[in-house]
Amino acid sequence: MRKKIVAGNWKMNKTVGEAVELALAVRDGCSDRSDVDVVVCPPFTALKPVSDVIANSPLKLGAQNMHAEKSGAFTGEISPAMLRDVYCHYVILGHSERRSLFGETDAVVNRKVKAALEHHLIPIVCVGETLEQREAGQTETIVRSQVEDSLEGIGEAVARLVIAYEPVWAIGTGRNATPEQAQEVHHLIREVVRAMCGAAAAQAVRIQYGGSVKPSNARELFAKPDIDGGLIGGASLEAPSFLEIVRAAV
Ligand code: PGA
Repeated sequence: MRKKIVAGNWKMNKTVGEAVELALAVRDGCSDRSDVDVVVCPPFTALKPVSDVIANSPLKLGAQNMHAEKSGAFTGEISPAMLRDVYCHYVILGHSERRSLFGETDAVVNRKVKAALEHHLIPIVCVGETLEQREAGQTETIVRSQVEDSLEGIGEAVARLVIAYEPVWAIGTGRNATPEQAQEVHHLIREVVRAMCGAAAAQAVRIQYGGSVKPSNARELFAKPDIDGGLIGGASLEAPSFLEIVRAAV
Protein backbone atom coordinates (compact mmCIF):
# COMPACT_ATOMS: atom_id res chain seq x y z
CA MET A 1 0.00 0.00 0.00
CA ARG A 2 1.38 3.38 -0.99
CA LYS A 3 1.03 6.12 1.60
CA LYS A 4 -0.93 9.05 0.21
CA ILE A 5 0.77 12.42 -0.07
CA VAL A 6 -0.95 15.80 -0.15
CA ALA A 7 1.23 18.83 -0.87
CA GLY A 8 0.34 22.51 -0.89
CA ASN A 9 2.06 24.54 -3.61
CA TRP A 10 1.77 28.11 -2.36
CA LYS A 11 3.39 29.47 -5.55
CA MET A 12 4.30 33.19 -5.35
CA ASN A 13 2.01 33.91 -2.44
CA LYS A 14 2.41 34.71 1.27
CA THR A 15 4.74 37.08 3.10
CA VAL A 16 6.75 35.56 5.94
CA GLY A 17 4.09 36.56 8.47
CA GLU A 18 1.27 35.11 6.38
CA ALA A 19 3.22 31.94 5.67
CA VAL A 20 3.94 31.34 9.35
CA GLU A 21 0.29 31.86 10.21
CA LEU A 22 -0.84 29.38 7.54
CA ALA A 23 1.83 26.83 8.47
CA LEU A 24 0.78 26.98 12.13
CA ALA A 25 -2.84 26.33 11.23
CA VAL A 26 -1.94 23.45 8.90
CA ARG A 27 0.45 21.95 11.46
CA ASP A 28 -2.17 22.05 14.21
CA GLY A 29 -4.93 20.80 11.93
CA CYS A 30 -3.19 17.66 10.74
CA SER A 31 -1.09 16.65 13.73
CA ASP A 32 -3.13 13.43 14.02
CA ARG A 33 -2.62 12.34 10.38
CA SER A 34 0.41 10.06 10.45
CA ASP A 35 -1.30 7.92 7.77
CA VAL A 36 -0.86 10.64 5.12
CA ASP A 37 2.27 12.60 4.19
CA VAL A 38 1.39 16.28 4.32
CA VAL A 39 3.76 18.81 2.75
CA VAL A 40 3.75 22.60 2.47
CA CYS A 41 5.78 24.35 -0.23
CA PRO A 42 6.14 28.05 0.61
CA PRO A 43 8.13 30.56 -1.47
CA PHE A 44 11.90 30.63 -0.82
CA THR A 45 11.74 33.61 1.56
CA ALA A 46 9.41 31.74 3.91
CA LEU A 47 11.17 28.35 3.92
CA LYS A 48 13.24 28.94 7.06
CA PRO A 49 10.50 30.51 9.19
CA VAL A 50 8.03 27.80 8.14
CA SER A 51 10.67 25.16 8.82
CA ASP A 52 11.00 26.48 12.38
CA VAL A 53 7.22 26.39 12.88
CA ILE A 54 6.81 22.80 11.72
CA ALA A 55 9.94 21.34 13.34
CA ASN A 56 9.06 18.30 15.47
CA SER A 57 5.72 17.88 13.74
CA PRO A 58 4.78 15.33 11.04
CA LEU A 59 4.24 18.17 8.54
CA LYS A 60 7.05 18.28 5.97
CA LEU A 61 8.64 21.14 4.06
CA GLY A 62 9.03 21.38 0.29
CA ALA A 63 10.49 23.98 -2.06
CA GLN A 64 8.98 24.98 -5.41
CA ASN A 65 12.15 24.83 -7.48
CA MET A 66 15.94 24.62 -7.25
CA HIS A 67 19.05 24.76 -9.42
CA ALA A 68 20.90 21.56 -10.32
CA GLU A 69 24.39 22.84 -9.44
CA LYS A 70 25.85 22.63 -5.95
CA SER A 71 26.99 26.28 -5.77
CA GLY A 72 28.54 29.00 -7.88
CA ALA A 73 27.82 31.97 -10.08
CA PHE A 74 24.09 31.43 -10.68
CA THR A 75 22.55 34.73 -9.67
CA GLY A 76 19.06 34.35 -8.29
CA GLU A 77 19.19 30.57 -7.90
CA ILE A 78 18.97 28.25 -4.88
CA SER A 79 21.00 25.03 -4.53
CA PRO A 80 19.92 21.61 -3.25
CA ALA A 81 22.26 21.98 -0.25
CA MET A 82 20.58 25.29 0.66
CA LEU A 83 17.22 23.52 0.70
CA ARG A 84 18.60 20.74 2.90
CA ASP A 85 20.07 23.40 5.18
CA VAL A 86 16.56 24.62 6.06
CA TYR A 87 15.27 21.04 6.41
CA CYS A 88 13.37 20.72 3.14
CA HIS A 89 12.37 17.14 2.43
CA TYR A 90 10.72 17.70 -0.94
CA VAL A 91 11.21 19.88 -3.99
CA ILE A 92 8.71 20.46 -6.80
CA LEU A 93 10.50 20.16 -10.15
CA GLY A 94 9.28 20.91 -13.66
CA HIS A 95 5.98 22.50 -12.66
CA SER A 96 4.13 23.54 -15.82
CA GLU A 97 4.54 27.21 -14.86
CA ARG A 98 8.33 26.67 -14.78
CA ARG A 99 8.16 24.83 -18.09
CA SER A 100 5.96 27.37 -19.90
CA LEU A 101 7.04 30.67 -18.30
CA PHE A 102 10.71 29.97 -17.53
CA GLY A 103 11.70 27.66 -20.37
CA GLU A 104 12.42 24.51 -18.37
CA THR A 105 12.83 21.50 -20.63
CA ASP A 106 12.72 17.81 -19.74
CA ALA A 107 16.53 17.79 -19.91
CA VAL A 108 16.74 20.58 -17.31
CA VAL A 109 14.20 18.80 -15.12
CA ASN A 110 16.20 15.57 -15.44
CA ARG A 111 19.39 17.27 -14.20
CA LYS A 112 17.47 18.73 -11.27
CA VAL A 113 15.88 15.38 -10.37
CA LYS A 114 19.32 13.75 -10.25
CA ALA A 115 20.76 16.60 -8.14
CA ALA A 116 17.81 16.45 -5.75
CA LEU A 117 18.21 12.70 -5.23
CA GLU A 118 21.96 13.11 -4.64
CA HIS A 119 21.11 15.54 -1.85
CA HIS A 120 18.44 13.31 -0.34
CA LEU A 121 15.61 15.56 -1.40
CA ILE A 122 12.46 13.89 -2.73
CA PRO A 123 11.53 15.40 -6.08
CA ILE A 124 7.90 16.00 -6.96
CA VAL A 125 8.22 15.82 -10.74
CA CYS A 126 5.37 17.48 -12.62
CA VAL A 127 4.09 16.39 -16.01
CA GLY A 128 0.91 17.13 -17.97
CA GLU A 129 -0.51 18.08 -21.33
CA THR A 130 -1.98 21.38 -22.52
CA LEU A 131 -5.57 21.74 -23.71
CA GLU A 132 -4.47 21.86 -27.36
CA GLN A 133 -2.48 18.65 -26.90
CA ARG A 134 -5.42 16.89 -25.23
CA GLU A 135 -7.83 18.01 -27.93
CA ALA A 136 -5.39 16.83 -30.59
CA GLY A 137 -5.32 13.37 -28.96
CA GLN A 138 -1.68 13.75 -27.89
CA THR A 139 -2.05 13.31 -24.13
CA GLU A 140 -0.44 9.88 -24.05
CA THR A 141 2.48 10.82 -26.31
CA ILE A 142 3.22 14.04 -24.41
CA VAL A 143 2.98 12.57 -20.91
CA ARG A 144 4.97 9.49 -21.92
CA SER A 145 7.83 11.55 -23.31
CA GLN A 146 7.83 13.92 -20.31
CA VAL A 147 8.08 10.98 -17.92
CA GLU A 148 10.72 9.16 -19.97
CA ASP A 149 12.90 12.23 -20.51
CA SER A 150 12.52 13.77 -17.04
CA LEU A 151 13.35 10.46 -15.35
CA GLU A 152 16.01 9.26 -17.79
CA GLY A 153 18.84 7.41 -16.02
CA ILE A 154 17.21 7.45 -12.58
CA GLY A 155 16.63 3.69 -12.46
CA GLU A 156 15.21 2.08 -9.34
CA ALA A 157 15.57 5.35 -7.38
CA VAL A 158 12.29 6.30 -9.06
CA ALA A 159 10.64 4.38 -6.23
CA ARG A 160 11.55 7.28 -3.90
CA LEU A 161 10.05 9.92 -6.19
CA VAL A 162 6.69 11.57 -6.35
CA ILE A 163 5.27 12.27 -9.82
CA ALA A 164 2.51 14.86 -10.15
CA TYR A 165 0.16 14.56 -13.10
CA GLU A 166 -1.10 18.07 -13.65
CA PRO A 167 -3.03 18.65 -16.87
CA VAL A 168 -2.17 22.25 -17.72
CA TRP A 169 -5.77 23.01 -18.65
CA ALA A 170 -6.87 22.13 -15.11
CA ILE A 171 -4.33 24.27 -13.22
CA GLY A 172 -5.90 27.31 -11.61
CA THR A 173 -8.90 27.10 -13.93
CA GLY A 174 -11.45 25.55 -11.61
CA ARG A 175 -11.84 22.81 -14.21
CA ASN A 176 -10.40 19.57 -12.83
CA ALA A 177 -9.84 16.38 -14.78
CA THR A 178 -12.57 13.87 -13.99
CA PRO A 179 -11.40 11.05 -11.70
CA GLU A 180 -11.66 8.72 -14.73
CA GLN A 181 -9.54 10.98 -16.96
CA ALA A 182 -6.95 11.35 -14.22
CA GLN A 183 -6.89 7.61 -13.42
CA GLU A 184 -6.30 6.80 -17.08
CA VAL A 185 -3.19 8.99 -17.23
CA HIS A 186 -1.94 7.88 -13.80
CA HIS A 187 -2.16 4.29 -14.97
CA LEU A 188 -0.23 5.18 -18.10
CA ILE A 189 2.48 6.91 -16.03
CA ARG A 190 2.84 3.83 -13.82
CA GLU A 191 3.17 1.65 -16.94
CA VAL A 192 5.86 3.94 -18.34
CA VAL A 193 7.74 3.74 -15.03
CA ARG A 194 7.36 -0.06 -15.07
CA ALA A 195 8.89 -0.28 -18.54
CA MET A 196 11.75 2.04 -17.55
CA CYS A 197 12.56 1.03 -14.00
CA GLY A 198 10.87 -2.29 -13.24
CA ALA A 199 7.80 -3.51 -11.44
CA ALA A 200 8.93 -2.73 -7.89
CA ALA A 201 9.64 0.92 -8.69
CA ALA A 202 6.33 1.25 -10.54
CA GLN A 203 4.47 -0.23 -7.59
CA ALA A 204 6.20 2.10 -5.12
CA VAL A 205 6.26 5.44 -6.94
CA ARG A 206 3.58 7.81 -5.73
CA ILE A 207 1.61 9.69 -8.37
CA GLN A 208 -0.29 12.79 -7.27
CA TYR A 209 -3.02 14.49 -9.22
CA GLY A 210 -2.91 18.30 -9.47
CA GLY A 211 -5.19 20.81 -11.12
CA SER A 212 -8.15 22.46 -9.37
CA VAL A 213 -8.32 19.95 -6.52
CA LYS A 214 -10.92 21.22 -4.05
CA PRO A 215 -12.60 19.85 -0.95
CA SER A 216 -15.58 18.96 -3.16
CA ASN A 217 -13.67 16.75 -5.62
CA ALA A 218 -10.67 15.47 -3.64
CA ARG A 219 -12.29 12.35 -2.18
CA GLU A 220 -13.42 11.00 -5.55
CA LEU A 221 -10.03 11.67 -7.15
CA PHE A 222 -8.04 10.13 -4.29
CA ALA A 223 -10.23 7.01 -4.36
CA LYS A 224 -8.87 5.96 -7.75
CA PRO A 225 -6.36 3.10 -7.57
CA ASP A 226 -3.42 4.93 -9.17
CA ILE A 227 -4.02 8.35 -7.57
CA ASP A 228 -1.86 8.64 -4.47
CA GLY A 229 -2.81 12.12 -3.31
CA GLY A 230 -2.73 15.63 -4.66
CA LEU A 231 -0.62 18.68 -5.43
CA ILE A 232 -2.81 21.58 -4.41
CA GLY A 233 -2.43 25.18 -5.54
CA GLY A 234 -5.27 27.63 -4.88
CA ALA A 235 -7.03 25.52 -2.25
CA SER A 236 -3.80 25.24 -0.21
CA LEU A 237 -3.67 28.97 0.48
CA GLU A 238 -6.29 28.74 3.24
CA ALA A 239 -5.94 26.22 6.06
CA PRO A 240 -9.60 25.07 6.18
CA SER A 241 -9.79 24.05 2.50
CA PHE A 242 -6.33 22.45 2.53
CA LEU A 243 -7.11 20.49 5.71
CA GLU A 244 -10.38 19.29 4.25
CA ILE A 245 -8.46 17.94 1.25
CA VAL A 246 -5.99 16.24 3.62
CA ARG A 247 -8.96 14.64 5.37
CA ALA A 248 -10.14 13.28 2.00
CA ALA A 249 -6.91 11.28 1.68
CA VAL A 250 -7.45 7.94 3.40
P1 PGA B 1 -4.41 24.59 -8.60
O1 PGA B 1 -2.81 24.44 -8.86
O2 PGA B 1 -4.77 23.65 -7.49
O3 PGA B 1 -4.58 26.05 -8.21
O4 PGA B 1 -5.08 24.27 -9.89
C1 PGA B 1 -2.17 23.20 -8.81
C2 PGA B 1 -0.71 23.37 -9.12
O5 PGA B 1 -0.36 24.20 -9.98
O6 PGA B 1 0.15 22.69 -8.53
